[in-house]
Amino acid sequence: MAELQRQRLVVTRTLPQASQARIDKGFDGIDIIQWKEDRAIPRSEFLKMAKGADGILCLLTDKIDAEVLDAAGSQLKVVSTMSVGYDHVNVPDLESRNIALGITPGVLTEATADTTVLLVLAAARRLREGADAVIQGKWGTWSPTWLLGSQLTDKTVGIVGLGRIGAAVARRLKAFGVQRFLYQGTRRKEETEKEIGGNIEFVQMEQLLRESDVICVCCALNDKTKNMFDYKAFSQMKDTVVFVNTARGGIVDQDGLISALKEGKLGSVGLDVTVPEPLPQDSELLSFPNCLVLPHIGSGTLETRTAMSEIAIENVLSGMRGERLPHAHNA
Ligand code: DGY
Repeated sequence: MAELQRQRLVVTRTLPQASQARIDKGFDGIDIIQWKEDRAIPRSEFLKMAKGADGILCLLTDKIDAEVLDAAGSQLKVVSTMSVGYDHVNVPDLESRNIALGITPGVLTEATADTTVLLVLAAARRLREGADAVIQGKWGTWSPTWLLGSQLTDKTVGIVGLGRIGAAVARRLKAFGVQRFLYQGTRRKEETEKEIGGNIEFVQMEQLLRESDVICVCCALNDKTKNMFDYKAFSQMKDTVVFVNTARGGIVDQDGLISALKEGKLGSVGLDVTVPEPLPQDSELLSFPNCLVLPHIGSGTLETRTAMSEIAIENVLSGMRGERLPHAHNA
């Protein structure tokens, strides 16, 4: 009897413990080639490792384009990214070759919404300045006027992208007494409006920028949203605004943001995402006391990262078996 052809699965990083244990145990009929260091695989290594792959399990740090697909070869059936965002993947390149793309939707909604709220509160209450003051010995006696922030009660919050994460952010912020939500996106979402309840309105971007006390960026990065927040957009905001981005760094024109911060056009800023990542230590962005930057840890809980890697494994195995992916990008 002819031996069944073994397949090759390429995994570009060590996964969270439970999923890594499955990879270490292996899967019938599959040879696994894994980059086991806890840093992004260098491009040249990736191109070498990809050769002959039937499935690739990658991360958002791995650019997937024609060069990788060519290096892999025509047998490649599926790319499964351990992320909900897939702006690092050239989708037309995959589609033209009939290669499926798996993503990890749903499971990181709550963790990312938590991080968004964390940044809203941290930025609004000047957490970075307060914590730095303690460490630097600048904590004097209690003062009625020192380090005053702003609170959410009765405020207007603008959400750009009322998808799963945007809606979860709104649900959370409602509990802080927000008076009104404005949102922007590709279309009005009546079901989501009903679910959130209260005062929520789909408005033009200009109105959202002008009227919001807090702005949360929760949309995907694509050709339409790239550099959407530029100097002009920042100039239209209130000069007390709390601006938070937990989506993708590329949605913000960082030079425009730096100019706006220099000119005191913004109240405070919280970012979980930047361009590039990691942000160089000498980036001017880090010099503003009212700008708090986190290292892209929006989904960074053990529960969420494990759920993401489990979905990524299921997606890649399904694709390699020639089955429909449980979570395809276009589902
Ligand atoms: C994603 O999955 O796209 C997130 O950015 C990871 O935190």
